[in-house]
Amino acid sequence: MANVLLKNITKRFDQVVAVNNVSLEIADREFVVLVGPSGCGKTTTLRMIAGLEEITEGDIYIGDQLVNMLAPKDRNIAMVFQSYALYPHMKVFDNMAFGLKMRRVSKEERSKRVQKAAEILGIEALLERKPKQLSGGQRQRVALGRAIVRNPDVFLFDEPLSNLDAKLRVQMRTELKKLHDRLNATVVYVTHDQVEAMTMGDRIVVLKDGLIQQVGTPLELYNQPANLFVAGFIGSPAMNFIPCQLLEEDSKIYVNTGDFKVALLDSVASQVRSAVEEKYIFGIRPEDFREKSPEQKPYVGWEPIKATVNVIEPLGKEISLNITTGTNSMTAVLGADTKAKLHEDIDLLMNMEKIHLFRKEGGEAIV
Ligand SMILES: Nc1ncnc2c1ncn2[C@@H]1O[C@H](COP(=O)(O)OP(=O)(O)OP(=O)(O)O)[C@@H](O)[C@H]1O
Ligand SMILES: [Mg+2]
Repeated sequence: MANVLLKNITKRFDQVVAVNNVSLEIADREFVVLVGPSGCGKTTTLRMIAGLEEITEGDIYIGDQLVNMLAPKDRNIAMVFQSYALYPHMKVFDNMAFGLKMRRVSKEERSKRVQKAAEILGIEALLERKPKQLSGGQRQRVALGRAIVRNPDVFLFDEPLSNLDAKLRVQMRTELKKLHDRLNATVVYVTHDQVEAMTMGDRIVVLKDGLIQQVGTPLELYNQPANLFVAGFIGSPAMNFIPCQLLEEDSKIYVNTGDFKVALLDSVASQVRSAVEEKYIFGIRPEDFREKSPEQKPYVGWEPIKATVNVIEPLGKEISLNITTGTNSMTAVLGADTKAKLHEDIDLLMNMEKIHLFRKEGGEAIV
């Protein structure tokens, strides 16, 4: 069993609070991704789990064991870093076996484990080469191999793919997921790339300034972001945000941005009726627009707006538009068959089931 439990973990470096009262339960064999902007405390959290960084406050358990005072080598974890620093003078085989040798694992056992890891990673043919005779992706695999041979209960990955080019990164992403299935190990994976987080994590933990913003499955975070930060961080192109006020008229509630006025669905209206006077930020994802043709009857649940097209970016199967409604600029992604023309007006519909409202004060999501 290798569940990992963080209980009210805080890390202070003098004046800097790098990790602020983080509590998190990672299940055995789960793939959890810590994601957030630079400096939000991802590496520090990982290093505390590994035992490379002392904990200022709180407790960490691996399995059922409190590990606060346990040396890194006794935690049965393996960490893979962004800069994987292979020993240049050693062959791939020896690079992979080195940690085991240090731990006095027998020669026979070392050989067995390296062979098995090489097989899993598809690098059997490279064992006799030196690191400089390998491509970036192959080197990354060797670094993974070095972790795999340890048979750890928990793998800790700190941006292991960020040195690879875009194509290789996508490929290694898939391979790491497959590896996770095969190894049956718990994984804590750090990245600042939300696409990597979305595609790899069973669950994602979004951090900002050392604080957990939200924990959830990729789709939970995408569809129900807890606050403005998560809403803006997860998803590409990013969600559109427009300051707005709510108006109550004829027992309906409208979002009024100053540029356009759209009715909330009754189910949504009931959630905000008691606080219409507050200030809000209206949020809509680029894909929640659709083009309205002139002859079309109104759709239930969709509200019309008129916008001007400023930029047209063909993405292949879709087209991304930069549009303005009065003073506000937004991104809308439409099908490639759109009739949108540069500098002309366009009639759009917004899917009111998919909209979000955040409190301007504090950014908390209320819808
Ligand atoms: N040894 C240290 N001494 C002082 N401050 C530190 C130290 N290590 C990290 N910090 C600070 O703690 C905060 C969190 O750093 P951390 O390395 O965990 O961020 P990160 O989320 O991994 O960022 P990145 O995406 O840039 O790797 C930052 O403000 C950083 O400057
Ligand atoms: Mg880091």
